[in-house]
Amino acid sequence: MVALMKISVMDTSASPAFAVETIGLTKRYPLSWKRKIVLALDHLDLQIRPGEVFGLLGPNGSGKSTTLKLLLGLAIPSEGEARIFGLPPDSLEARARVGFLPENPYFYAFLTGDETLRFYGKLCGVTGAKLEKRIEELIDLVGLQNGRERPLRSYSKGMLQRIGLAQALIHDPDLLFLDEPTAGVDPLGSSQIRDLILRLKKMGKTVVFSSHLLEQVQEVADRVAIFSLGKKALEGSLEAMLVENQSTQINLPAELSAEQQERVRQLLVQAGVGAAEIRFTRPHLSLEQLYLRTIQKAPDANPPTHPRP
Ligand SMILES: Nc1ncnc2c1ncn2[C@@H]1O[C@H](COP(=O)(O)OP(=O)(O)O)[C@@H](O)[C@H]1O
Ligand SMILES: [Mg+2]
Repeated sequence: MVALMKISVMDTSASPAFAVETIGLTKRYPLSWKRKIVLALDHLDLQIRPGEVFGLLGPNGSGKSTTLKLLLGLAIPSEGEARIFGLPPDSLEARARVGFLPENPYFYAFLTGDETLRFYGKLCGVTGAKLEKRIEELIDLVGLQNGRERPLRSYSKGMLQRIGLAQALIHDPDLLFLDEPTAGVDPLGSSQIRDLILRLKKMGKTVVFSSHLLEQVQEVADRVAIFSLGKKALEGSLEAMLVENQSTQINLPAELSAEQQERVRQLLVQAGVGAAEIRFTRPHLSLEQLYLRTIQKAPDANPPTHPRP
């Protein structure tokens, strides 16, 4: 009897395992006047699961923006391929599920926050009562109640990035690409943007963002890839990569006196820990934490507006 063999084709669009997947993704830019090429991205293999916050790290020129442009279908790969939820990045279905905040977003300076969102909403085909409801939700989400009726020319850099984020979310995408979302933003503004990224994660969104500000990435990313000269030099979960395996830290809510330290030391030695390896130190705040605690009371650099007397 001949057994019939069933050949099944994987339908990646139905329930794709990855929000982002690249295989050997490569981009070369020709430098025509020198008859040379720049290898901006060199055989990148990447897999990002739905719901992850993923950081692209690396110095200027290491290929972060090129990666994002390829994932958005704004640049064509020289080799290899990219998939967004199993779909080609330049397909309409993929584009409908993706929001983008570019590195230096260009907005109309004379439009207010509300008008900007209305403009981009209509561009994305969101209209009427649905659009107005969405604008309310987004202004709330990015905390721009103070700025919604002001022209963008009066916005701080941090407010501009937040309206940019709201714009990227107008069509309720599942996946967000943010290119250097905190570049040029002061520490308070950038901590608000990091909070927003965490809220988006809670809402189930996948967020892929680039940055060269390492501490900021550490606070929000589940996993990172470090780029160097167009190549992925390291990739992994921050939790796994940053833990120091050979040590244990015990945090106490009080300062120990010299006598107490000695007693703890003796206990640890009795428990078999080498006396030379025990160190007592006091934990430090980072300067950024201290700064944020100090200025937390004034959420925007721009004070709220008041009616003219
Ligand atoms: N349109 C372009 N034409 C030529 N070279 C480019 C172009 N875009 C980027 N590059 C080059 O590709 C490399 C990677 O750039 P990019 O992806 O923008 O880096 P990053 O975002 O990490 O700073 C750099 O050497 C850059 O000069
Ligand atoms: Mg860049």
